Amino acid sequence: METLMHYSPDRLWQIQQKGFDQTFLGKTESIMVLGNGYMASRSSEEESYVGEVRDTFVAGTFNAFDENEVTELPNVPDMLGMSFLFNNRNLSLVQGQVSDYTKTLNLKTGELVRQFVWQLEDIHVKLTFRRFISKARRHFFASQVTIENLSQQDIKARIRSGINGQLSNEGSQHFTDGEKGLMDGRFIQMMPKTTQSHIQFVQTVEHMFLDAKLAEHRPETARRGFFMNYRFDVQAGKSCKIEKRGSIYTSIDNDLEDHDTATMRRVAVEELKQIESNSFDDLLQESAQEWEKIWNKHPIRIESSDYRDQLAIRFAQYHLHVMTPAHDQRMNIGAKGLSGEGYKGHTFWDTEIFMLPYFNFTHPEIAKSLVTYRYLGLEGARKKAASNGYEGAQYPWEAAWPTDGEVTPVWGAADIVTGQATKIWSGFIEQHITSDVAFGVKQYLDVTGDDQFAREKGYEILIDTAKFWASRLEYNPEKEVYEINDIIGPDEYKEHVNNNSYTNYTAHWNMAYVLTLIEDLKINQADVYAKLDATFKLADLVETLTEKSQKMFLPQPTEESILPQDDSYLSKAVIHLRKYKESDGVDSLFHDYNLDQVNEMQITKQADVLLLLLLFEGLFEKELKEKNFDYYEPKTTHDSSLSLSTHAILAADLGRLDQSYDFFKQASNIDMGEYMKSSDPGIHAASLGGIWQMVVFGYGGVRIVNGKLRIEPHLPKEWTSLDFGFDYQGQSVSVHVTQTSVTIDKSEGPVIEFINKEQTHKLINSVTINL
Ligand code: BGC
Repeated sequence: METLMHYSPDRLWQIQQKGFDQTFLGKTESIMVLGNGYMASRSSEEESYVGEVRDTFVAGTFNAFDENEVTELPNVPDMLGMSFLFNNRNLSLVQGQVSDYTKTLNLKTGELVRQFVWQLEDIHVKLTFRRFISKARRHFFASQVTIENLSQQDIKARIRSGINGQLSNEGSQHFTDGEKGLMDGRFIQMMPKTTQSHIQFVQTVEHMFLDAKLAEHRPETARRGFFMNYRFDVQAGKSCKIEKRGSIYTSIDNDLEDHDTATMRRVAVEELKQIESNSFDDLLQESAQEWEKIWNKHPIRIESSDYRDQLAIRFAQYHLHVMTPAHDQRMNIGAKGLSGEGYKGHTFWDTEIFMLPYFNFTHPEIAKSLVTYRYLGLEGARKKAASNGYEGAQYPWEAAWPTDGEVTPVWGAADIVTGQATKIWSGFIEQHITSDVAFGVKQYLDVTGDDQFAREKGYEILIDTAKFWASRLEYNPEKEVYEINDIIGPDEYKEHVNNNSYTNYTAHWNMAYVLTLIEDLKINQADVYAKLDATFKLADLVETLTEKSQKMFLPQPTEESILPQDDSYLSKAVIHLRKYKESDGVDSLFHDYNLDQVNEMQITKQADVLLLLLLFEGLFEKELKEKNFDYYEPKTTHDSSLSLSTHAILAADLGRLDQSYDFFKQASNIDMGEYMKSSDPGIHAASLGGIWQMVVFGYGGVRIVNGKLRIEPHLPKEWTSLDFGFDYQGQSVSVHVTQTSVTIDKSEGPVIEFINKEQTHKLINSVTINL
């Protein structure tokens, strides 16, 4: 496979593509996506190419194309595209001669720069494109192009640029054409509206010619588009700069009081006018300062024999902040962030298990917004439970607008054997999401100590999810136990199984924890107890939860200490997986088998039992973990990007640091690596959360176990030191780890207790422990 990605030890903030190849547009469109959590745009080239996926998304603006499709994040009319004619020849890198092509994302500042020299007949130009989406002004972006004429004669240049709504989500058009026009003679405005959710967009663009004398500027309206056509000369040996600035506002923006279209149009134009005299560099600097705040909050430094480890954590943090709608608690993180149409912008358990830990420990205010989203989702979760004949709150497998409830599509890719669309069962029977949400809330509370959230929202989520599980259990009169049958666990290659260990144990934890919680509230917080009692009739609930959790079937290890993934897994056929494990793509298994066949084999898509052993580490002995690791990992294809980081952390816990580091490398390469097709539908959000977890949980050894903080670092031999920090219950902690010791410091404030190698330590100011 062609390698275009380029990294360098002296550019530890840079992701770079060297050389242009039209076949691999999707890679850098995704991994260099720009954004600020409010909106994001794939880093497509300015000029168009066949095969590009030119997406811009505004978080939360879901729309359903028709009654047969589920709601998805619509691809907003494009504002960054531009087409160029030089001496009447279309600028296109698939013709003429292209040299010194680089496309570079600066993770530190959030700036994308693309440069190349293009020669065709009498045209010889160097083009430099710069752009950013402002982290300081959530609606605003700017781009700039510099055209240098390297030839001996003047070049006649033409530019067509504006707003282009002739785009869709793989053919589904989510917008009405809407009103469009020029404001004050120079601000292009388009007002598309989503067709079903009726969200009004106001998109505004202006062009600024800093040093070119325009021979023509002509507006052009099109169907679903509005453009300006500019004509000018670039003199021999000279250059000129053009800026394109713009903004997006929508009628669901929570920073606007008045969502009237005329008002939004005025606000947008006023904002652009107000910053008219600020240069591109000033505005970039203002945005970079906001990024700087993120980088300065608990910076992570890795001294490694491979500089890419440091780059990987920066890459992960950059994307986590580009994709997270921290500004609005009605929104959450999509499985592909805001970087592609994959998974339709929907939120999965990926948030609670993979991304939330980063925010819990580094940006608790963002974590709060993410868990509040689940509180707002209670209404939809209650509806889902009721429609399935259950009580309490059953969270949707895929979520969009919090009150929408279940939005998982029902039909997926064609079956290789039958040629018919495969039914996606997850929305019906992948039910562990409900205990994952509860687990996420508990982790948030343990890390932040946010009692107010607990009282006002968190306890309600925990209790209502436990109530769901109690009603979901099925009594098996022969065995006299409660079971959970006909389910999909984290391993989506096993459908309709009974008693998936991950699901049973996490559901059991949910119920058992709520029993202790209710007991505690009754004794210590009578007012909170009384309020919850009015809704949940707690005494009755305690009775039900006690009976059911006591009689619940929790799969037990075999004589060989293997915890069965479900009732039937261990009796299924075993096949060699090397071929599939070594292939670059993730669907090679399905070139040979269909899902029904895979269902009958001991093939696991992603960490399932092993994730349980990691999340509930206090429940299992080290020896059992080792045996299960050796049993399940060889049967795991890691076809989901949620798999490798779990394996890396668990291996580190087990002291298998070489193996762990190997998983760390594979996991960090899912998006950043050289394989050019991995990120086409978008980056892998959970895997990026996983990168932070591998560093801080895996090698930094930080964990919350049974509600207590544990710090037990162990570095791979390739690392000489690791520095990181985190917030813990309102205090700031910083950690310096070497191969032989760990030093932990904290800010002024109450003593923090933590566990290291089964000993409780008191952190007053600073502690050093030999490893
Ligand atoms: C994984 C799920 C995950 C989803 C979204 C699937 O391939 O199996 O665990 O939630 O992708 O990332």
